[in-house]
Formats: sequence, C-alpha cells, structure tokens
Amino acid sequence: MKAAVWMGKKKMEVQTVADPSILNPRDCIVKVTATAICGSDVHLYNGLVPTLEKGDILGHEFMGEVVEVGSAVKTTRVGDRVVVPFTIACGACSHCVRTEWSCCDNTNPNAHVAEALIGYSPAGLFGFSHMSGGYAGGQAEYVRVPFADVGPIKIESDIPDEKVLFLSDVFPTGYMAAENCNIVPGRSVVAVWGCGPVGQFAIRSAFLLGAAKVIAIDSIPERRALAEKAGATAIPSGDDVMETLKAMTGGRGPDAAIDAVGMEAHGSTYDDVKQALKLETDRPFALRQAMRCVRKAGTLSVPGVYAGFLDNVPFGTVMNKGVTIRTGQTHVQRYLHPLLELVEKKKIDPACIITHRVPLSQAPEAYAMFADKTDGCIKVVLDPSR
Ligand SMILES: NC(=O)c1ccc[n+]([C@@H]2O[C@H](COP(=O)([O-])OP(=O)(O)OC[C@H]3O[C@@H](n4cnc5c(N)ncnc54)[C@H](O)[C@@H]3O)[C@@H](O)[C@H]2O)c1
Ligand SMILES: [Zn+2]
Ligand SMILES: [Zn+2]
Repeated sequence: MKAAVWMGKKKMEVQTVADPSILNPRDCIVKVTATAICGSDVHLYNGLVPTLEKGDILGHEFMGEVVEVGSAVKTTRVGDRVVVPFTIACGACSHCVRTEWSCCDNTNPNAHVAEALIGYSPAGLFGFSHMSGGYAGGQAEYVRVPFADVGPIKIESDIPDEKVLFLSDVFPTGYMAAENCNIVPGRSVVAVWGCGPVGQFAIRSAFLLGAAKVIAIDSIPERRALAEKAGATAIPSGDDVMETLKAMTGGRGPDAAIDAVGMEAHGSTYDDVKQALKLETDRPFALRQAMRCVRKAGTLSVPGVYAGFLDNVPFGTVMNKGVTIRTGQTHVQRYLHPLLELVEKKKIDPACIITHRVPLSQAPEAYAMFADKTDGCIKVVLDPSR
C-alpha cells in the first residue's frame, strides 16, 4: 500500500510499504477514505519529538471502512464506516473507566520509554513516535486499529467524510479546551491564542458552551478572518496583546485563556535561538503570555502540545494570581457521540476549516504548505485513493 512516511526533519515521502495485518484478535483493519494533517504532525515533521524514526508512517486523524476484524472483535463489523480517535484506549483500565481515555494504561507497548521521560505513560497514539507506542499512522491506504470495539465510532448516516473526519482529533480537542475553561454562559470572556484548526474549534466550542465573548489571537490574517466568521473578535499576536486584552475587558483580563499554539509559538527571538541551539525543547511564548494575561483566579486551558522542559515559565504569576491550569491530550472517546450529534443537528460545520483537499501522493508538498502556512492553508485533507 501507499503511505506518508517521515524520512527526517522536514522530509516526508510517499512510499510503498507492507499492508497492515491483524496482530491482536481485538484489532481491525480500516481502509482509509479521508485523513488530515494536524498541528501535532508538524512537531514531528520538524523533528521536535524524540523517538520518531525514519520510515515511520504518520497520521492520527483518519476515517474509513472496516475491511477486516480480528476473532475477538464483537461489535465492529466489516463494512462499517468509522471515524477513529487518535488516542488508543483499552476501555477497561482504571483511567478508561473514568473516561480519561488519553491516559489509558494498556495501549503503549513502549511504556517504559515514556515512564523514563515523564514518570508515567499516557495512552498509545497513532503515528506519533515510538515513545507513544510506535503505532503506524493513518496517512495511508490502510491502517491497523487496536481495540476495534472501543475507539472507532460508526457513522450510520450518509453525512460526507469531511463533516465527521475531525471527530478523530481537532474538534474534540477544541471542545475539551473550551470545556476546561469553566465557561459561565452569558458572562465568560475567553481569549484563544492560535487560530489554527484547534483554535478554530476552541472558539466555536466556547460559543456553543455560552461564552459571552471570544477574543482570538494570531499573526495570520486569513486565520483571524475565519475566527471572526465564527463571531470572535480577532487581534494580531505580539508583545502588546496584554494591553489590548486589558483594554477589551475593563482592565480585568479574560476569564479564561486557551493556549492553542503549543511548542512552536512565534514571536520570541529568545526561544528561537535557544531551541535552535537545543538548549530548550519548546518555544512557550504563547503560554507565558496566556499565563500573564488571564485574569486573577481565572482558568488557563492548554490543548497546545509541549514536549519537554520549558524555560522561563512564570509560575509565580500562576501561583500568585490563583490560576487553574487544565491540559492534556484529548480524551477523544468521551466526545465522539455528543459532538457527532452537534454535527448532525447542524450546530456546527467542521468542514468550514478545510482549505485544501489533495491526493495522498502529494503529502510531502501538503506537509510543507501546512507547516509553513503558505497558500492560505488552514487544514489539509488527504485522499488515499488518489
Ligand atoms: N491536546 C491535544 O490532544 C491536541 C490535539 C491536536 C493538536 N494539539 C496541539 O494544538 C496546537 C495547535 O494545533 P493546530 O492544528 O491548530 O496547529 P497550527 O500550527 O495550524 O496552529 C497554530 C497557530 O498558532 C499561531 N501562533 C503561533 N505563535 C503564536 C503566538 N505567539 N500567539 C498567537 N498565535 C500564535 C500560528 O500562527 C498558527 O495559526 C499544536 O500544538 C498541536 O500539537 C493538541
Ligand atoms: Zn492531532
Ligand atoms: Zn485503558
């Protein structure tokens, strides 16, 4: 089959690789009909995530048709049309039972690597380095999906792929980020750093949860324009964000701040140099700013991905203002059914973020375009049949 593989920093190739096969009786094989490139893939593409190896198949946002099931699979059937969460979860451990799906204890075969690096191992993730399980990703014609009865959600209606594909990651991620903000309907002001796909869904979800006002921050005009289409007030990123936010909130600051940027924030030469010299794993410019800008006793929600140890993070600001921080890889399985219902009831159209639809064969060009944010690119959907 054809698959998009990582061959080194900023180097993707489409290669012919072996088809996946059932390795565990609870696996299924999905023929991928649509897959997307995520901001998290950019961290991999840029070589910032340890334990990624040349030849690894990327991709953790995908959906398709079940073409084979293992002997212990009970509810998922050949022919089902499914969206697959990027977090692989067993459904039975203490974390899964508490719906903390991205913290599943049983899906990372390389748990010892994660434990050595971060203390405990989170769930395995598709296409996300060996530290996260070494699972092949879904930017391919076929993919093996473990725990076939736990993760995939069956799509019964004939709703197009592009309206449900993002249930695999960025829609639940934006939604959980907003849910983590303790929004008081009609009253809360939420500031969102980053108007990429995650930021766009965080903005729309904040409104769905009743936010009175959403302020969106990004340097890219077309992304700010898309945020404004959703009803947000958009402002450019930069050093004067704090003054602008104060001016917009009567001096109090936003009730909640969402960092939908993560480890590759722009705007700080200090971080650019330190990261280039490998003296720092992450560039936490947006995170620092969000910590400073959120109001006293406010909430900081961090869907943005961080890899390691952050420099000059003003924790004293967080402590002295009494800020609550909520973060994590998304517990995707928790949100599949409620968010599918919102899509089916037309409360939101997730396809609104798509700017490019390209064949899988053009994955290398699509990665470069999405990572460099050229050609107005906000979200790319890849078609493995082309
Ligand atoms: N927690 C999760 O489970 C989860 C899931 C998906 C994605 N993510 C993470 O969410 C983050 C965003 O993902 P995405 O797909 O939207 O990526 P993206 O790269 O398309 O978007 C990031 C946006 O942040 C903007 N930005 C950069 N520096 C900024 C600054 N200083 N101030 C304001 N905006 C700034 C960029 O211009 C860009 O528009 C990434 O870190 C990604 O890894 C997390
Ligand atoms: Zn992702
Ligand atoms: Zn589990």
